Amino acid sequence: MKIAIIGATGGTGRKVVERALELGHEVIAVARRPEVIPPAERLIIRQGDVFDASSMAAVIAGTDVVISCIGPASNSSPGTVVSKGILNILAANFSPGTVMSEGIPNILKACQRAGVKRLVMQSGIGLSDGKELSAGNRWAMGINRRIFSKAIKDKAAAEYAVQRSDLDWVIVRPSGLSNAAATLSYTAGPSARIAPFRPLPFADCADCLVRAATDEPTWVRKIVNVGR
Ligand SMILES: NC(=O)c1ccc[n+]([C@@H]2O[C@H](COP(=O)([O-])OP(=O)(O)OC[C@H]3O[C@@H](n4cnc5c(N)ncnc54)[C@H](OP(=O)(O)O)[C@@H]3O)[C@@H](O)[C@H]2O)c1
Repeated sequence: MKIAIIGATGGTGRKVVERALELGHEVIAVARRPEVIPPAERLIIRQGDVFDASSMAAVIAGTDVVISCIGPASNSSPGTVVSKGILNILAANFSPGTVMSEGIPNILKACQRAGVKRLVMQSGIGLSDGKELSAGNRWAMGINRRIFSKAIKDKAAAEYAVQRSDLDWVIVRPSGLSNAAATLSYTAGPSARIAPFRPLPFADCADCLVRAATDEPTWVRKIVNVGR
């Protein structure tokens, strides 16, 4: 398949590009800083900013599916990709801006204009109301939601827009993510019970996002949790 990956320079996005290529797909990597993406066979690299609504349709034109891995920039200094410390992560969550609530609707419009029917949006388990989680995790997630209320609000608006669209969408809500090596052994599915604070390798989350984009017909128009 031909897959557009938006947010291709991020912790997850880079791994999604790698995994999709590994599985033999054609990839269009979309990034604000395309120069930091290494070239590869079957990879086209395009410049794109999700705030620039008018340019997005052209950027994703001709693809079968779009995967969004965008998120609030936690370390936007030039040249850095994911080298973020805890303070940067906290800063991104306390002051998330509107990259999700504005960027995702722009991606949706671009999909409609370009005739791309399928969209996978990476969200976060923080958006869960906790019903499917253990009692302890439900309680901890409630506190987490209060602390990071701005980031949750920004992502909730994005999820709402996706759910109201007529695309074949999948929203993927991962647990916390880490730079560990891929295991390809994880739990994923609609309402799957996962441990929100047990880190999952970016690469495993990436595998799940590619599955959501290219396979897994029963995940369409569903919210999928992924973690351990
Ligand atoms: N990391 C975790 O533990 C975790 C856990 C659960 C959910 N999530 C969520 O999953 C998503 C991806 O997480 P991540 O940790 O992989 O994110 P990340 O490393 O912070 O990467 C975010 C990506 O979004 C891109 N981006 C930001 N603003 C953009 C814009 N205006 N136009 C185009 N691209 C833009 C960034 O590009 P630049 O490189 O140009 O800044 C980067 O590629 C986020 O929504 C995050 O909140 C993360």
